[in-house]
Amino acid sequence: MVKKIVVLPGDGVGHEVTGEAVKVLEKIAEKHGHTFEFEQHDIGGTSYDKYGEPLTEETVNVCLQSDAILLGAIGGPKWDNLPSDVRPEQGLLKIRKALNLFANIRPIKGFDPLLHASPLKEEIINGSDIYIVRELTGGLYFGTPRERRENGTVAVDTLLYRRDEIERIVEKGFESAQLRKKHLVSVDKANVLESSRLWREIVEEKKKDYPDVHVEHMLVDSAAMRLITEPTYFDVIVTENMFGDILSDEGSVLTGSIGMLPSASLSETIGLYEPVHGSAPDIAGQGIVNPIGMIMSAAMLLRYSFDMDKEATEIETAVEKALEEGYHTKDLRINGGKVVGTKEMTEAVIRHLS
Ligand code: NAD
Ligand code: IPM
Ligand code: MN
Repeated sequence: MVKKIVVLPGDGVGHEVTGEAVKVLEKIAEKHGHTFEFEQHDIGGTSYDKYGEPLTEETVNVCLQSDAILLGAIGGPKWDNLPSDVRPEQGLLKIRKALNLFANIRPIKGFDPLLHASPLKEEIINGSDIYIVRELTGGLYFGTPRERRENGTVAVDTLLYRRDEIERIVEKGFESAQLRKKHLVSVDKANVLESSRLWREIVEEKKKDYPDVHVEHMLVDSAAMRLITEPTYFDVIVTENMFGDILSDEGSVLTGSIGMLPSASLSETIGLYEPVHGSAPDIAGQGIVNPIGMIMSAAMLLRYSFDMDKEATEIETAVEKALEEGYHTKDLRINGGKVVGTKEMTEAVIRHLS
């Protein structure tokens, strides 16, 4: 099968991790007789430095014509004082909007060999398997007005959701739950926010269409607590953009490191795959970044965009085997095993694909 994959390394460790995912995909292609054509483009600060904007029209068009997109991470101190409309983060928000990537899937499932890598007790996290469905193109990230007033002394952000935006992500939440343990927790702040009250109303309406799913509402503050005191309580979580952002970083603690978490950002027609972590400027360029979140994102790409379930599972199994052998990067603060750099970690995974 011939497939065109656009690679957007972005900034900082983004360059290091995308290179590793490409190696893994090339190995899979060789093994299964597929042809993956990779085409690299800029996004974030790297794009700003070259073109004066964090995402060009041309890059958007190339992505629209591709079969799937792999993204590393964007941002970094070098660009933190740029005007807000050309910050690297705007490049990421712009591509999500331009491609209509409204559903951000963030699975949180620890690997057995790393159960002791979490600062949480093993008996608390054992068996946890969470699937966050985060709304990605609405809410606080995109609402207008967004501005400074009164000589810069007043700041305004707008949290706005339209019914149709909530409906489609809530449907995604129910559908995801149907494919899993049929338990959906809708997370909101309906005791305070009007947008959350509309969200709740819509979940209540939709649940009639999914009678096999047990659905409940949970306030975000309480959900944040429950996520680490009783993670096994959760199956699918559906939530708005900002809550999903924060809860997913919190949830990464279950897996031992933010560097472990993959994600898929999906429209009706295309998918963009990126790790949950950022550009990690504090360790960029040192060859020590954990590539697993990115490699697992590549597995999600195969499964969701190319329908290559077998190939995706092979990658996931290879990662697990490499971890079983003790290979891990430094961010997983565990005693023993073999602490290796980014490239060695990937090589350990690839050995299990042979
Ligand atoms: P971060 O996720 O980049 O880093 C947080 C901490 O985790 C750092 O100590 C970092 O070294 C560590 N870390 C992250 N990923 C790692 C990995 N794969 N292996 C080992 N250690 C890892 O978050 P931050 O420091 O708050 O943000 C840095 C920049 O990244 C900011 O500019 C932010 O806007 C951007 N960011 C981008 C994305 C994205 O591109 N999707 C996501 C989050 C943050
Ligand atoms: C993420 C990041 C982004 C977000 C930022 C960099 C815009 O934190 O992908 O989780 O908040 O969505
Ligand atoms: Mn985030």
